[in-house]
Amino acid sequence: MRILSGIQPSGALHLGNYFGMMKPAIELQEKGEAFYFIANYHSMTSLFDAEQRRKNTLDVALDFLACGLDPKKSVFWKQSDLPEVTELSWLLSTVAPMGLLERCHSYKDKKARLAGNDLDKVNHGLFAYPVLMAADILIFDSNIVPVGRDQKQHVEVTRDIAIKFNNLYGETFVVPEPQIRAEVAVVPGTDGQKMSKSYGNTIEIFADERVLRKKVMSILMDSRTPQEPKPDADKTPAIQLLKLVAPPGLAKDLEDRLRAGGLGYGDLKKAVFEQYWNYFAPMRTRRIELASNLDYVNRILRNGAARAREVAQKVLSRAKRAAGLD
Ligand code: ADP
Ligand code: TRP
Repeated sequence: MRILSGIQPSGALHLGNYFGMMKPAIELQEKGEAFYFIANYHSMTSLFDAEQRRKNTLDVALDFLACGLDPKKSVFWKQSDLPEVTELSWLLSTVAPMGLLERCHSYKDKKARLAGNDLDKVNHGLFAYPVLMAADILIFDSNIVPVGRDQKQHVEVTRDIAIKFNNLYGETFVVPEPQIRAEVAVVPGTDGQKMSKSYGNTIEIFADERVLRKKVMSILMDSRTPQEPKPDADKTPAIQLLKLVAPPGLAKDLEDRLRAGGLGYGDLKKAVFEQYWNYFAPMRTRRIELASNLDYVNRILRNGAARAREVAQKVLSRAKRAAGLD
């Protein structure tokens, strides 16, 4: 079984990225052949600062390796090191219906957000993004794609494109399945909406202590006083975030006390902070070690690209033959 996923270097990685995508991907390393990459081409659709992209790319590599991506078990590389992907993307774009792409939520949301102020930023790459993502997935004969819920539609588009190509040109691509963990499909941000870089409500995995504490303390509570009972305590972002990292007994105790009324919001958030700080402590140590050995990190990415490329070249040749190009 081949497992594949990618993550954009568009900013510091946050708890939504970690629980929605990275942790499931890291656990899946034990279950099959894992292929993970840094989607730096995708980041070009919304980040226009070259130095920032270079820095973010290194940060994503450090974050992912520190969190447990094991280069002995997984192939890990940078998207732009495989030109085969952009070549396949063209082949796929010719069978990707415009209507299908126009219906993609991610495109529609980004377009709507930019429409008021900067329509120039609604670029063709943003629109074609799911086709490039389909190429990422199909070029490795991927079976399983672990992602958060917001990427489900893109994997469905990939499936549609694969089926259409197979129908037109004969069996060429493996049709992949998204894998979404229900319990972390949408990790809430500090304001209770989906945690996302675009909403400014993120808590970064490797924020320093002061910043992390401040972010956790800013988690939105509702307007009821701490004394009032809260029958919906399980919907509170602070409780949802706590449950991801705290021992179940502790999380249940605080949830029960919030439900009954009387638990101070400051006390709850202090517990959330402490649990997060402890949960990521071993990964912070590992990240510092990795950051002092960048040659090692760059070597992992280079070796990963070479291994990934072997597979990609085979599948691209298969697709070119099928389409009458070779
Ligand atoms: P962002 O929304 O911050 O820009 P990305 O779109 O770069 O995040 O997401 C990278 C990966 O992390 C994707 O697989 C996505 O589904 C997952 N992810 C991002 N935010 C969340 C979240 N709040 N809950 C669950 N998964 C998430
Ligand atoms: N679009 C994904 C995101 O923003 C990143 C990505 C690019 C990806 N190519 C992929 C994820 C292929 C899974 C498979 O999160």
